[in-house]
Amino acid sequence: MGDWVRVCTTAELLPGESKVAWDGDVAIVVVNYDGDYYALEDRCSHEDFELSAGCFDGEEATIECVLHGSKFDVRDGRALNPPAYAPAVRFPVKVEDGSVWTRDDRD
Ligand code: FES
Repeated sequence: MGDWVRVCTTAELLPGESKVAWDGDVAIVVVNYDGDYYALEDRCSHEDFELSAGCFDGEEATIECVLHGSKFDVRDGRALNPPAYAPAVRFPVKVEDGSVWTRDDRD
C-alpha cells in the first residue's frame, strides 16, 4: 500500500472543484463536493479513459465521462447510467496540515 500523496492545500480545492493527483502511475481525481472530499481513480470503468477530462457537477455530486457519457457518483463511485456499469474505484481522502491527501489503498 502506498503512502499518502499530497493533492493540494484545502484553499486550492474549493466546493465544486476537482484536481488530479498521482500515486505512482495511478491517476486519482479528487473533488470537493459541498465541503467534503472524495477521490476516484481517474479512469472510467467502461473503457480506459480519464474521468477528469469530463465535467464534475458540484451540485449533483457526479462526474461525467466525456467519451460516452456515463456519470459516476463521486461519493461512492457507482455508475449511474450506461454504457458503464461497474463502479469507479474509490480511494480514501484525508485533510491534514491544511492540505488534502489521498492514496491508492489497493494491495
Ligand atoms: S469510456 Fe467512459 S463511458 Fe465509455
